[in-house]
Amino acid sequence: MPAPRRPVVLSLGGSVLLTGEHDEAYLADLTTLLHEVGEKHPLAVVVGGGRTAREYIALGRALGLNESELDELGIDVTRLHARLLASLLHTAAPPRPPLTVAEAVGEVGRWPVVVMGGTEPGHTTDAVAALLAERLRAERMVNATRTAGVYDRDPRKFPEAKRLPLLELSVFRKMVIEGTDGHAGQEFPFDRLGVERLARARIPLAVVDGRDLPQLRAALEGKSFEGTLVQP
Ligand code: UTP
Repeated sequence: MPAPRRPVVLSLGGSVLLTGEHDEAYLADLTTLLHEVGEKHPLAVVVGGGRTAREYIALGRALGLNESELDELGIDVTRLHARLLASLLHTAAPPRPPLTVAEAVGEVGRWPVVVMGGTEPGHTTDAVAALLAERLRAERMVNATRTAGVYDRDPRKFPEAKRLPLLELSVFRKMVIEGTDGHAGQEFPFDRLGVERLARARIPLAVVDGRDLPQLRAALEGKSFEGTLVQP
């Protein structure tokens, strides 16, 4: 009997899920893709809060909420997005998304796909995905973002930015630490806790444009893809 496939964890940015452009068609195609990949590998998807989370966080900050209260607002938005994607997957995913990593670990393998949002204040859904990947001994983690991988500088600000197709995890870790300071709603392609966990568990990370579904599929299936492969 062949050995059971190890799980794959996908961190799907909220700003990938909802862009305001062709979201209906994208969500329909993404759902089909997740169904198909989930047939081959146990698949866990952690969904982010994107622009909606940042809008609530900006409003709450203007009204004087503290960082932890702002994080809770963000978490609720990620859970709303998880509920949307879980509903689209019908019977392939638990209809009530797990609220903790431990709960999710209990569901992965029992369903083709498990979808969840954030868990507690102080990190992002990338960290939740990395914690889950560690607990599941995942084969790989995929980070679906709005850029086609990791660049040597911010590609939205610098048109001459170059994509880095292959990165060592220690180099990526340094980039994440330099690019983040832990505030709610921060915009950086990854999260400090997440990179520490991937390094500790020696799990490879594929960073790919989540709106490019052929590339996302290749990254999830462990095939070569256009993006960045971060190797432990
Ligand atoms: P996201 O994970 O969506 O962060 O969480 P992001 O970096 O904005 O990612 P994209 O844009 O979706 O790709 C949104 C906010 O929710 C809080 C944090 O404040 C985070 O910035 N959050 C999320 C938590 O505090 N804990 C969690 O487990 C998840």
